[in-house]
Amino acid sequence: MKGVVFRGLEALVIETQGMAAWEGLLDKHAPEDRVYISAQSYPDEELFAMAKDVADILEKPFVDVLRIFGEYLFGYLTEKHAGMLQQFSGFQSLILGIDSVIHAEVAKLYHEPNLPLISSELIKPGCILLKYSSCRKLCFCAEGLIYGAGSHYGVNTQIEHQQCMHDGYDHCRLLLTFEEG
Ligand code: HEM
Repeated sequence: MKGVVFRGLEALVIETQGMAAWEGLLDKHAPEDRVYISAQSYPDEELFAMAKDVADILEKPFVDVLRIFGEYLFGYLTEKHAGMLQQFSGFQSLILGIDSVIHAEVAKLYHEPNLPLISSELIKPGCILLKYSSCRKLCFCAEGLIYGAGSHYGVNTQIEHQQCMHDGYDHCRLLLTFEEG
C-alpha cells in the first residue's frame, strides 16, 4: 500500500487520539524509524495491524473503523491531489469515473500502485451498481470513500453491500442509492 494511505491514517489518528497514540502504533507495528513517504509502498499488514489496534482502542468493530478511515481518506486524498475533483460535475460522475478517471490518473502518478478493480454502472437515476475486487479486500474502506464523496457533494448516500468478498465471492456488489442535493 502506498505511503499516502498510511499518512491518511496517521493524520486521522493524530487528529482524533493525539500524537502519542500514533507513536504507540508505530512502535508496535512498524520497523524502527519508519517514516511513510507518499509515493513509496509499504506492507499492507502494517496498515491492517494499526487499523485493528485503533478498533480495539475505540472499542469499535474493525469494519466500522475501515469505513471511518475511508470517509476521512477521501478528503485527505483529494486535498493531496488538488485538481482531481475538477474533472467531475458531481457525485454521480465521480463514482462512475473511479476506475477510468481517478485510479487511471493514480496509475500514472505513482509507480506500480496496487489498485482495486472497480466498475460502476448507472442502473437508473439515483442508483449505481458498483463492483469491487482486490486481493486486499478493503471493501469497507471503499464504502467509507463513497460516503466521503457523498458528504463532499452534499449527497445523501445509502450502500447495500449485496455480496462480499469476505463471504467467498470473487467480487463485492455494492448498490448505491443517492439523492443529488
Ligand atoms: C469513492 C471514490 C473512491 C473509491 C471507492 C476508492 C477505492 C479505493 C480502495 C478501496 C483502495 C484500497 C486498495 C484496495 O482496495 O485494493 C484505493 C486505493 C487508492 N486510491 Fe482510491 N478510491 C476512491 C477515490 C480515490 C481518489 C479521489 C483518489 C486520489 C485523489 C484515490 C487514490 C488512491 C490511491 C493513491 C490508492 C492507493 C494505491 C496503492 O496503495 O498502491 N482514490 N482506492
